[in-house]
Amino acid sequence: MTSASLLRAAPDVIAAAARRVMARCEELARVSAAAASIERVYLSPEHARVNRLAAEWMRELGMRTWQDAAGNQVGRIGDPAAPALMLGSHLDTVLDAGRYDGIAGVLMALEVVRLLRVPVGGDGDAAGDGWTVPLPFAIEVVAFSDEEGTRFGKALLGSSAVAGTWSDAWWELTDADGVSLRRAFLEFGLDPARVGEAARRPDELVGYLEAHIEQGPELDRAGEPLAVVSSIASARRFQLVVEGEARHAGGTPYDMRRDALLGASEAALAVERICSAEHHIVGTVGRFEAFPGAVNVIPGEVQFSLDLRGEFDGERDRVWDALARELDEIMGRRALRWRSREVHSAPAVFCAPLLQDVVAGGIRAALPPRSDAPPVIFSRAGHDGMSLGAVTDVGMLFLRNPDGVSHHPDESVSAGDVAHGIRALAEAVLLRGTERV
Ligand code: GLV
Ligand code: MN
Ligand code: MN
Repeated sequence: MTSASLLRAAPDVIAAAARRVMARCEELARVSAAAASIERVYLSPEHARVNRLAAEWMRELGMRTWQDAAGNQVGRIGDPAAPALMLGSHLDTVLDAGRYDGIAGVLMALEVVRLLRVPVGGDGDAAGDGWTVPLPFAIEVVAFSDEEGTRFGKALLGSSAVAGTWSDAWWELTDADGVSLRRAFLEFGLDPARVGEAARRPDELVGYLEAHIEQGPELDRAGEPLAVVSSIASARRFQLVVEGEARHAGGTPYDMRRDALLGASEAALAVERICSAEHHIVGTVGRFEAFPGAVNVIPGEVQFSLDLRGEFDGERDRVWDALARELDEIMGRRALRWRSREVHSAPAVFCAPLLQDVVAGGIRAALPPRSDAPPVIFSRAGHDGMSLGAVTDVGMLFLRNPDGVSHHPDESVSAGDVAHGIRALAEAVLLRGTERV
């Protein structure tokens, strides 16, 4: 099965677009709070700098630009009165990040805008509105400001504001330095009282399409450059505290010890044991700190994080209940106390059938003909589409991620796959415009 190509752009134009994406990923990687690694968190000076760069690149394409009330950078092109097909991803990063997670998707979206404005047959603006073929919608590219939740623990802050699901309960979340989200807003020059202005109405949007590296090895193992995403895993994040008693490391016999580190360590192992016994559930303890943190003092308190993902919300919640029972048992046996605070919760989001079809059609048009359908995989990683599902249809295109390495400086994607991805995304936009799927 093949899809006819709707895009009138020569392969060398697409290859040049992919080279530009790769070069800009490098340029954005240099905007970092850390000297020797990539670190760009929400409402930081680096966030402001990449927004300015993205806005420049958007204006270069003739887009109208603005930074919204939650710090997302937006560019829009096309009929001002028409609803928009939103394209995008995020520019924030984890700590010691790679160059492509989120970033490639934003830059690919900009190249799609550039390709769709290629003059037809040399007569310039043949479709009358700057598009290669007439599109029944405007296009907006959004560089979301906080997908990772690196700074405040709660992920998807930028896209939650756009989806109109911002919660006032988040204002008092604090970063590692004790700075509240409210204060960080003010310091960035945003007004907390106006965050609602970032929200979009369903009738303003025809859908959201995002290209992203897979962040796992499935496509690499299958030798496939691109895939349609069927759904995005549901996620919950918790901050946990285990309390014991800090005492002398030499003088305290074992029968008197209430070592919080040992209890928390058992808890981390229980996360692995319980999650790995389930289908498509993963749990990760990514942060683990003992207090007072002295070599000769039994740890009196441990704080750690838990990130829990599952294909379905129900399974994920059942696993959390099982973990909580296990923690009760472990801490009871060790005379410790534990408590948890949920800092993030996002339901699984299923990609809209129409957008899955246009992404599949885009992949078919971008790659050599094949008799079977392109791969369809579910995303184990979180994405801005998880929030946007509350306000519009969501579709995603995955790019092969060599060895599945992501959230790490070795994260990579090839320029060839980016070229295929740009073409597939552009074709998907055109297919959505014609609904010829
Ligand atoms: C973001 O990349 C996440 O899945 O945590
Ligand atoms: Mn990420
Ligand atoms: Mn991402």
